[in-house]
Amino acid sequence: MIYPIVLYGDPVLKKRAKDIPHGEDIKELVADMFDTMYAASGVGLAAPQIGKSIRIFVVDDRPMMEEDEEGIKKAFINPEILEEDGEPWAFEEGCLSIPGIREDVKRKPFVKIRYYDEEWNEHIEEFDDIHARVIQHEYDHIEGILFTDYITSFKKRLIKGKLANISKGKVDADYRVKVPIKR
Ligand code: CO
Repeated sequence: MIYPIVLYGDPVLKKRAKDIPHGEDIKELVADMFDTMYAASGVGLAAPQIGKSIRIFVVDDRPMMEEDEEGIKKAFINPEILEEDGEPWAFEEGCLSIPGIREDVKRKPFVKIRYYDEEWNEHIEEFDDIHARVIQHEYDHIEGILFTDYITSFKKRLIKGKLANISKGKVDADYRVKVPIKR
């Protein structure tokens, strides 16, 4: 099943997501999240972006890799970042929930993370470079943080109108979206 992607302005994107009960069958959800991500040509997708405030995200960054590099394809369930390290580096990020906006974000290049896979096996792994960045971006989603939260107030003013349009559903996206409910 392919879910519509929740757009900027929906309160679910600003909420800290809850742990998934250990052992719950999440295989179908993981498969659906990968399908949803691929349908939108994304390299990462977190559950709040399909309207679910639970701690899971999927990553497949292989499309971002050069020929000689290996990408990662993984589901991260109830993850916890244990360590972030290194000199922060800037990279232009985008987000399926914020179509049409890309901005430089500084992040540390190294991350150590504990998580469960869809079989509920526990892993502690280290990632660097682009892999770390995608993981940090998706992890932020389950913490209720968006990449636009990091940009300067000056830049934020420049994109204010665009963000307002996104929250009203005025977007140019080639995937299904869910327009935030105004309350
Ligand atoms: Co995102």
